[in-house]
Amino acid sequence: MPSKKNASLQSGAVPRHIAIIMDGNGRWACGKGLERLSGHERGAEAVRDCVKGCRELGVEYLTLYAFSTENWKRPKAEVMGLMKLLDRFLSKELPELNAQGVKLEAIGRLADLPDSTQKALRRAIEATAQNNKLTLVLALSYSSRVEIVDAIQAIAREVQAGRLDPAAIDANTLGSRLYTRAYPDPDLLIRTSGEMRLSNFLLWQLSYTEFYITETLWPDFRKNDLLEAVREYGKRHRRFGGI
Ligand code: FPP
Repeated sequence: MPSKKNASLQSGAVPRHIAIIMDGNGRWACGKGLERLSGHERGAEAVRDCVKGCRELGVEYLTLYAFSTENWKRPKAEVMGLMKLLDRFLSKELPELNAQGVKLEAIGRLADLPDSTQKALRRAIEATAQNNKLTLVLALSYSSRVEIVDAIQAIAREVQAGRLDPAAIDANTLGSRLYTRAYPDPDLLIRTSGEMRLSNFLLWQLSYTEFYITETLWPDFRKNDLLEAVREYGKRHRRFGGI
């Protein structure tokens, strides 16, 4: 249930599922003459604040684009710094996630992650599995095209084995083989730092999602910015291709 604090938001105006492309960490740091990693560290504070904001609003799912398959191309020091930051975040935030009833899940090629990150992730996923207030999904080593290719390969195998009739394949057949099969499609996509692209994020799932692009850099994004995005979402008239 949305809390009283957000009584200004009309009922029904709160998205069930928010997805965020957290962009601008590097620019935030460079603008301050700091190392790029400082931007990611400050970005982790924005994550903490947004999780709280989503809990207060009554959002059911929050999916964060934390690391793409393309991000492996970054300098090794930045990649390793990000992985260590994730490890620290997962162990430090665990009590708070539990206190808030947040269930942690992850999507992507998780086997690509360093052992320590996989371990921290497994531990946090297991420790929060019974929570039911908000599902926080981290997209890690994630590529939407790879996800779709994986799903198509699974379907092809089922057809080859005679378990699936090609004529029976529809959008649900594919959707139910994606990493996100347990979640509803996002209602609202937020991208920070003003960039107007999807960057290989949830290409299938965002078909009818409302977009909100803000110039704010991710490390500066806080609960109030989230509230602003949700207010803007509340003004949209969703037609899903109808009239
Ligand atoms: C994009 O900014 C951001 C990333 C590639 C990493 C996102 C990671 C965090 C916010 C760290 C914490 C995450 C969690 C889940 C604890 P960029 O570096 O591409 O920014 P730029 O476009 O300004 O260079």
